[in-house]
Amino acid sequence: MVNLSVCLSGVPLKNPVIPASGTFGFGYEFAAWYDLNCLGAISCKGTTEQPRFGNPTPRIAECVGGMLNSVGLQNPGVEAVIQGELPRLRQVYHGPVIANVSGFSVEEYARTCQQLNDHADLLEVNISCPNVHEGGMSFGTSPEAAAAVTHAVKAVTTKPVYLKLTPNVTDITAIAKACADAGADGISLINTLLGMRIDTRRRRPILANQMGGLSGPAVFPVAVRMVWQVYEAVKLPIIGMGGVSTAADVVELMLAGATAVQVGAANLVEPCACRSIIDTLPAQLEALGVKDINELIGGAHHG
Ligand code: FUM
Repeated sequence: MVNLSVCLSGVPLKNPVIPASGTFGFGYEFAAWYDLNCLGAISCKGTTEQPRFGNPTPRIAECVGGMLNSVGLQNPGVEAVIQGELPRLRQVYHGPVIANVSGFSVEEYARTCQQLNDHADLLEVNISCPNVHEGGMSFGTSPEAAAAVTHAVKAVTTKPVYLKLTPNVTDITAIAKACADAGADGISLINTLLGMRIDTRRRRPILANQMGGLSGPAVFPVAVRMVWQVYEAVKLPIIGMGGVSTAADVVELMLAGATAVQVGAANLVEPCACRSIIDTLPAQLEALGVKDINELIGGAHHG
């Protein structure tokens, strides 16, 4: 028997596989496809203080090896999430819930996280959304702003706080260190890479918002590189993500330094992607002679 269980800042996960925020709704929508209780945890749809309609359409552009999205943080707002979405999820899923929070000011991040504190097991603070003109990624591209959000959220919450970082920076380690110094319990990375497609017949950008975030298998090597760098830079647990679609990808990202792994765009291609990865993980580990998945974490840094 291979041990698949891992722990994120005191939160036990039966395995390291987590559907990524923005690709799995509030989870319960996927209960029609499979029993969600096989999952390590669920990272819920990004939530803001106020309801948001999101960006104009088209919001999606496909590309080789992935896709661009410019959803614009569409969500019903924190009150509706607490009253409606999370209770619906709890009816069909009994494992750890990660609340993913976005904001447009330091104070708003803190208020929304404070509201969600008693309704989630872990807070994933998204300072990396590339699709909004204020807030979002602007907090994740400056060490000072990243530290300010971390500090403000930590001051009003009791649950583990993980900052979700953007790859659209020159030095990801500077941002991770700023979060760590401000009291973060862990780091999630990577969010999407800013990209663009043009409709050659119309001679106009495909996305109504012009640019969007690239995700899917094309970004996986970037995720491996950045998880590796952050693992070397800070002594905090890492939730790794970015183009993960197989059990072999989970192993690779854990060897780079991740304690747990989120699966994003793959859910949009195959709704049962996370379950398939979990089902194939034991054989993958056995083939590598691994008895406890925790042996993998950061394993490529040693020796
Ligand atoms: O546009 C979006 O809602 C994307 C969010 C994100 O990438 O964090």
